[in-house]
Amino acid sequence: MTGETESTILASPPRLNRGTLLVVDDEEGARLSLRVIFKDDYEVLVAPDGATAIELVQQHKVDVAIVDIRMHGMSGVEVLERIKFIDPTIEVLMITAFETTDTIRQALRLRACDYINKPFDIPTLRSAVSGAIQRRSLDTEIFNNVEKLHQLYSELQSLRMESQMAQTRGDIYASIIHDINGPLTVISGFLQLINQRIHNQETLDAEGLGFVKDRLRTMTRQVTNCIEISRRYLSFLRRQPGEFSRIGVNQLFSDLEHLVRVHPSLHGNEFVVQPLTQDVGVNINGTDLIQVLLNLTVNAFQAAPMPHRVEISGETLTEPLVLTTFKDGLTERLLNVESFHNFAPLVRVSVRDNGPGIPPEVLPKIFQPYFTTKDARQGTGLGLNIVQRLVREAGGALHVRTEAGVGTEFTVFLPATPLAK
Ligand SMILES: Nc1ncnc2c1ncn2[C@@H]1O[C@H](COP(=O)(O)OP(=O)(O)OP(=O)(O)O)[C@@H](O)[C@H]1O
Ligand SMILES: [Mg+2]
Repeated sequence: MTGETESTILASPPRLNRGTLLVVDDEEGARLSLRVIFKDDYEVLVAPDGATAIELVQQHKVDVAIVDIRMHGMSGVEVLERIKFIDPTIEVLMITAFETTDTIRQALRLRACDYINKPFDIPTLRSAVSGAIQRRSLDTEIFNNVEKLHQLYSELQSLRMESQMAQTRGDIYASIIHDINGPLTVISGFLQLINQRIHNQETLDAEGLGFVKDRLRTMTRQVTNCIEISRRYLSFLRRQPGEFSRIGVNQLFSDLEHLVRVHPSLHGNEFVVQPLTQDVGVNINGTDLIQVLLNLTVNAFQAAPMPHRVEISGETLTEPLVLTTFKDGLTERLLNVESFHNFAPLVRVSVRDNGPGIPPEVLPKIFQPYFTTKDARQGTGLGLNIVQRLVREAGGALHVRTEAGVGTEFTVFLPATPLAK
């Protein structure tokens, strides 16, 4: 025993990259001989009882424990169980003497990796410990790699989220500019009109004053619109859900009509609004629905260069939609089905034109952001993408049906609500 004592629990100062072995045995002779056998290959910790063993496992990174199954006080099986509770990856070898197979089986069930009979056969013991150390380092490597993979994965996730947020922010800025463009065009047209009217005039007669006042009223409406649009998008950026106001559909139709009547895209086109026979509320922000309908109406006007007819109509539906009657195909598409609140009552709002229709090769692309068949001055390709998004956020569905030479109809289905008192 070359003067080995238990004055220090740590057999030799820790060196890097050596496995750590814990010997738990209440027999001093066994502890000392195990320490002698392994001290040159591993850091060896020794514990005379279960409580000390548990303490050592808590304080050190133990790789393999050799635990005597039969000990006074805390039994070897209990020590095994508690070691595995602290660190399930520690390999535990049981030392057995005259144990029943039941005890050994119990130890193996508790995930002891092997058992060795006393008195030890040193080569068997060495090979069992070295096998356990190897398994343990492989486990640690796998564990570290899995950890690294998790870390990489979460870094990738946050990078993806950041880039998605940047993209969303970009989309939102583009949407603000797109939506504000309409009201600004109206304001700019009216400013020109007023300018022409008062140019070279020192004073205004009653009629001139009335003219200016009337245009100023419309311009004020448009400025309010611009402010609401930017407020809406800014609240998206701040991730606040859009406030829903239960506004009557017919009231929104009439607001829209005011806007369209002065919109340059009206040209010489015919524009008809068919209100609901009985007004009803919709669960969508009022500016959002106007924006949806304005985008659809402007598209309808722009569908053909020659004068044509655009009609907006609405209806309350007392039954949910039978979705199977809609078929995605060359002339028809239904969008937002997954998020659609298909519960009656619903409101149907349609924008129909008798333009040339949408060609079958174009139809699948029209809702993609930045897809346009118009020249750069007329279209950015964002209109329908915004429409789809706003309708989706309100739990609505969007349908388009088109026929070459006959025209196109876009229909928005939204959950209806009682009118606000
Ligand atoms: N009523 C319609 N009739 C025929 N084609 C249409 C109609 N509505 C949309 N489209 C087609 O769908 C495309 C995409 O429309 P969208 O509103 O997204 O963009 P845009 O009108 O081209 O540009 P923006 O609305 O951004 O100014 C249009 O370029 C056009 O080809
Ligand atoms: Mg458009």
